[in-house]
Amino acid sequence: MPDLATGSYTLENAHITSSAKKIYTGSLSVHNKRICYYHHGGPHINLGDDFIVYPALINSHDHLRGNYLPRVGPSPGSFYLNWLPWDNDLKASDVYAERSNLSIETMYMLGSFKNLFSGVTTVQDHFPHAQNRNILPELPIRAFLGYGLAHESSSYDLKWGDGIELEHKRAVQNDWPFITHLAEGFDEESMNGVQTLMDMGILDDYCVLVHCIALSSVDIDLLAQAKSHVVWCPASNMFMFNVTCKVRQLLKAGVNLSLGTDSTHTGSFNLFEEMHTARAVYRSLYGEDLPAKTLFDMVTLNPAKAFHIEDRLGSLDSGHFADILILKAKTDDVFENIVHASAEDIEFLSMKGKALYGTLRFIDVLGGSLPDGYSIINVGGTPHFIIGDPVTMYRAIRTTVGYNKILDFLPFEPEEQ
Ligand SMILES: [Fe+2]
Repeated sequence: MPDLATGSYTLENAHITSSAKKIYTGSLSVHNKRICYYHHGGPHINLGDDFIVYPALINSHDHLRGNYLPRVGPSPGSFYLNWLPWDNDLKASDVYAERSNLSIETMYMLGSFKNLFSGVTTVQDHFPHAQNRNILPELPIRAFLGYGLAHESSSYDLKWGDGIELEHKRAVQNDWPFITHLAEGFDEESMNGVQTLMDMGILDDYCVLVHCIALSSVDIDLLAQAKSHVVWCPASNMFMFNVTCKVRQLLKAGVNLSLGTDSTHTGSFNLFEEMHTARAVYRSLYGEDLPAKTLFDMVTLNPAKAFHIEDRLGSLDSGHFADILILKAKTDDVFENIVHASAEDIEFLSMKGKALYGTLRFIDVLGGSLPDGYSIINVGGTPHFIIGDPVTMYRAIRTTVGYNKILDFLPFEPEEQ
């Protein structure tokens, strides 16, 4: 009989990649929503050699309400000077007008499912609190509320939050990250982003700086000294600017680097795709592979550190939240296995022990049958349970926009379910 009262279950004979440094085979249990290595209660699921267990992934940069397709970018053969003309192009586009027919709640659910289908249970929704604080707690995945923010550091930015200095101060007081786009362009103000934060006296280890494509070598040294964090969004950067941050130099300087998708209006379909792009971009820039282990850190431990949540997320250490991702084992190298993964490879995903998605071999985790609030979908020709009802949502979107809209980050066809 499943231990439903506590939501306990045990993965046994499991190949576990707790972090880039801790890999082993054995049993892992979920007890009281946390990882546990001694309780071994609840239903047991024997995994064996066909699967690998990882911490669920962290997407360090997204705008959850902005995940719609197709992308909006510069005219063929040209690229932007900074983010502002893109923002103007987006808001004048047909796709933005079409998106506006969908409710904000639907857009947030789309963003949540985009992330879920790449093994993500924690995402940073870069948007003002006044506009997301009521909706984030209702989502099927975790979009944390504790952060200070700005849109950018330029005189022409979108003025999110209460101003850089106050938002940063609030972040420090609460032990939150202070998050802002920075140096996303090549005009004078964009290129001066790091110095602007320096002049304000706030460049420190609370700062999580997104994009940073225009950093100089001096800027990189300043970030390293200040222990500030950088979020790398290679797909979005290459699409808009045909250039990305100096990733090898940042790594060499010891800057803590995390990976983010940005919204699908400029970025990847999801975090798996972003890892594929990151690898390809790194190879084209430097003629060598970015180690898979380094990329794995960028979607697990590094963002946990940047967002001040490493005491509970980012690895499968005992006592951490039971945010678990199980993938099919396609190669012997556990890190290559995850950086080559796609939605079809997800076998199971949980957040704080709660099963969000999985094949029916995990149905005992849900008590042996489908509870209220879940549905069944076919992904890769295999039935999966999933929290919520993305099939009905997808159909409703098609009805609203009046044609068979394809959203590639949803890995199923609603009419074939
Ligand atoms: Fe962004």
